[in-house]
Parts: sequence; C-alpha cells; structure tokens
Amino acid sequence: MSSATAPGKIILFGEHAVVYGYPALAIPVLQVGVTVSIEVNPPDASTKLHITKTSGWKDRITITAPAIGRFGTLASFPSSHRPDPIALVIENVLNTIEIADPPPLDIHITSTIPVASGLGSGASVSVALVRAIAATLGKKITDEQVNLIAYEAEKVHHGTPSGLDNTVITYARPVYFIKDTPIQTFSVGAPFTLVIADSGVSAATRRSVGDVRKLWLADSNRVETIFSSIAYIVDQAHKFIQNGEWPALGPLLDQNHQLLQQLTVSSPILDRLTTAALASGALGAKLSGGGRGGNMIALVSPEIASSVADALRSAGARQTIIATVI
Ligand code: PMV
Repeated sequence: MSSATAPGKIILFGEHAVVYGYPALAIPVLQVGVTVSIEVNPPDASTKLHITKTSGWKDRITITAPAIGRFGTLASFPSSHRPDPIALVIENVLNTIEIADPPPLDIHITSTIPVASGLGSGASVSVALVRAIAATLGKKITDEQVNLIAYEAEKVHHGTPSGLDNTVITYARPVYFIKDTPIQTFSVGAPFTLVIADSGVSAATRRSVGDVRKLWLADSNRVETIFSSIAYIVDQAHKFIQNGEWPALGPLLDQNHQLLQQLTVSSPILDRLTTAALASGALGAKLSGGGRGGNMIALVSPEIASSVADALRSAGARQTIIATVI
C-alpha cells in the first residue's frame, strides 16, 4: 500500500485578475487535505471486478472517493469529450511515467476539503493522485510534471484556470503567481493568523469567471482599471508578508474585497461574513477564490482568532478554520 497527501489552498489576494495575467498570492492550507492510498494487485480483485481474460486495464483500476462522490472502475469514468478529471489525471500520469499496462489498482481517495468552496479540492485530489500512482508503480515524477498534470485537470473543472490552485498545492509553499511565468515561491517574514470561513454556498468558479469575462468584454477599460488596482494591492501585500509586517495586510484585504464586489463576484452572505469579521475585531477581511459563495478570510491577531470564528459562525458560516500562515 502506498499513499500521498496534498494540502488545501487559499488565495490571499488577486483572484480573477490573475486569469488576465495580473499577479496573485496564495498559500497552502495544511489543516485540510486529500490522502490517496493505493493497493496494487488487491487480493480480491478478480472476484470483486469479475475480471475476464478480455478485460482491459481500465477495468482493473477501481476508484473509491466518497468525499467527492466518485466510485467505480476507471473504465466507467468518461475519458473523452468532457473527461472526468480523475480519469484524465490517471491516464496522464501513466503516460508521463510511461506505463502502458498497469497492474490492478485499488485507489482510495479521502478528503477533508469542502468541494467547490475555494479551498482547492480538485487540485489537491489531482496532486495527491499523481504522486500516489507514481510512488505505487515505483516511478519518479518531478514537481513540474505533477503541476502540469494537475493543470490539465483544472481545465476540466474550471474551463480557463489561471493555474494558481495546482501550483500552490503542488509546491505546498506560499506562491506569488503570474500565469505562464516561472514559479515564484516566497517566505513569510513573521507568522500570521487567518480565520477561513465557509459560506456554505457552493458556487462554480467556472460561472463567476465567465461573468467577469462578460463584464470585461462589455467595458474592458473599467475592468482593466480594477485589475490594475488589485495588482497594486498584491504587490504591496507581497512585500508586507515577506517583511513580517502582517498587520498592514488588513486594509489591503478590505480594499481587495471592495474591488471584487465591483467585479460582481461577492454575494450577500460573503458581504455579511466580512462585515461580521470586522465587527468582531478582525484587521481586514475578503472573499477568497471564485466568489458568489465558497470561503472568505479574515486576518486576526492570534488571541482573538476563536472569538472571530465564533462570530462568523453566528453570522451564518457553516465551518471555520483557524490557519497560521508560516
Ligand atoms: O475558486 P477557486 O479557489 O478555485 O479560485 C478561483 C480563482 C480565480 O482567480 C477566480 C480563477 C483562476 O483560475 O485563478
């Protein structure tokens, strides 16, 4: 039995603008994650799968992923037209490690990352799956290859992803990200604390990205001005984080949230949660990720983290996570 894990992620600053080539900052969230465990030649494979001499290798790979509602043999997952992301990842990793006829595999995927909430569930499954398959079959795979395979799966999830999710999850380090440029990880000068709150509303990133695209097509000057303001915030935040000046991030979070409101990707519950965070002493707050639902983040001093988390749950958050960014 081999296994691999991958963390969740959260975008600190720069979502949406990042799709258009502007910078964004994201960090891994180690409190949540995905574990993929694989058994090779499971003892009951032939009885369980009714293997016949004519079965192809895709009939001999079973996937059990209760957290994301996927069960069955690889052969039962759509692999062309709009492929299932898990099937795509398995086929791409086998191609990359040059294994044409893998042995029977029992793949178990467990996750503590809420789906469609901005915590990178899809990318985390992809990264852990790629690494677990390569490890199980005794093959080396580089971070760059892992990232590329996870990016292909993100395209199925989101349509036109920037690549931010797969990058921060592959490297499991804070990332200053600009689409189609070399990876830039960075160090956090002094640890800081975030409360991450799940609005309980699952919202498709593909949709909010599409709506921003419509806005941009209708008035590209105005939307590009918003993107430039977001980029300015990202660059300031990048410096503050590296210098350990984390309290200065508070006003930047608020400004970034306002700009995301102008892009129409906030929502009543996200606005209510950011207001509740500020009222309970947070230094700043914003939605994180695609928006319309999903998560928001609040910057807090460590002493008040649990009271801010309580206030967020009272204001309607389904779940809160207190994360120390290091
Ligand atoms: O909803 P999430 O956390 O997957 O983030 C989406 C971030 C966007 O900038 C809106 C899209 C992207 O591909 O970067």
